[in-house]
Amino acid sequence: MIATVTLNPSLDRHVAVDNLVLDDTNRWVSMKYQPGGKGINVSRVIYELGGDTKAYGFVGGVDGDVLKKLLKGHKVPCDFTSIKNDIRSNFIITDLKTHRQTRISAPGPQVSSGELKKLVDKITGIKPKPTHIVFAGSVPPGVPGDIYYELIVRMQAMGIVTVLDSADQWLREGVRAKPDIIKPNVREAQGLLGVELKTEEDVIYAVKTIVSSGIKIASISRGREGMIIADKDQIFKVVPPDVQVLSTVGAGDSTVAALVLKLSQGGTLEDASRLAVAAGTAATLTAGTELCHKADVESLLPQVKVERLLF
Ligand SMILES: Nc1ncnc2c1ncn2[C@@H]1O[C@H](COP(=O)(O)OP(=O)(O)OP(=O)(O)O)[C@@H](O)[C@H]1O
Ligand SMILES: [Mg+2]
Repeated sequence: MIATVTLNPSLDRHVAVDNLVLDDTNRWVSMKYQPGGKGINVSRVIYELGGDTKAYGFVGGVDGDVLKKLLKGHKVPCDFTSIKNDIRSNFIITDLKTHRQTRISAPGPQVSSGELKKLVDKITGIKPKPTHIVFAGSVPPGVPGDIYYELIVRMQAMGIVTVLDSADQWLREGVRAKPDIIKPNVREAQGLLGVELKTEEDVIYAVKTIVSSGIKIASISRGREGMIIADKDQIFKVVPPDVQVLSTVGAGDSTVAALVLKLSQGGTLEDASRLAVAAGTAATLTAGTELCHKADVESLLPQVKVERLLF
C-alpha cells in the first residue's frame, strides 16, 4: 500500500465569472468545491490508476468535513487526524472571458503539538505497514519546519520507501534525511541547490548532484519538456508528446503518483518514468484542477520518448 501524507490540505473553492471586474460586484457563473492538497492528489491518481493507497493528514472544521465527503465521493481511502481549527481554503477565480485564473491561497490552520503527536503515532502505526509513503506539499503553522526530516527518518527505520515532494525550507530540511525519491520542478530544484537551472545540461547536472548526495532516485520535472530522472546507475530524459493543454494544475502530483505506483509494482526506472510523464501530461488534458484520467494515460504512454543519457 502507498500511504500519502498531506499536512496542509485545503478545500478549494472554484468560482467562474464571465468578466472579472475589480471594485464592483461580480456574479458567479458556477461555484465548485474540490479537495486540495498534494498528497491527497497523489492518492487520487494512484486510485485512478488502479493502485492501493490511503491518504493521511490533518482535517478540521466544517470545511474538513466537506473535504472528507468529497474524497468519499471519489472513493479514495483516507484516515485523517482531526484538528480543532478549520483547514485552509484556497479560492480560484476563473475569468471565462480572458481565461485568466486568480488564486487566493491561505497559509493553513494552527496545529498544536498534541495534534501533531497524534498524526505521528497514527502514521508510524499503520497496519499493515505501507511499502511506500509520500510526503507532499506545505506545512501548516505550528508544525516545525523540519517535520519532513523527522518523519522520513522514522519511516526509513521501519523499512518504508520514502518520497518527498515539497518546496522551500520543507524540501531543504527534508532532503537532509535522504528520502528515497524526490521530484522537484525546476523552480523547487533551484531553491534546493541554490543555483539557476537554465539549460538542459544544468538540469542533468542537478539531478546527478542530488543522486550523488545519497538520494536514490532524483527527478526534476520540466513542464512541457517532461523530466530528467536518475538513480546511481542510469539517467533518462523523458519527453511527452505535444498536447493541447487545458490546465497544468496537479500535473506534478500525477507524475509523482504514477512514478511511485510503477516502482512499487517492481517496474524499472525507465518504465516508471514513462508512466510518470504520461500521467503528468494526461493531467494537462483535463480542465481546472481535475487530475489525469486512466484512459488518457494509457493512450499517451506509447508516445512518451525515453532517451538514455550518458552517465
Ligand atoms: N505544458 C505541458 N505540456 C505537456 N506536459 C506537461 C505540461 N506541463 C506539465 N506537463 C507534464 O506534467 C509533468 C509535471 O509538470 P511540472 O514540471 O509542471 O510539475 P509541478 O510544477 O511539480 O506541478 P504541480 O504544480 O502539480 O506540483 C511534466 O513532467 C509533464 O509530463
Ligand atoms: Mg509539484
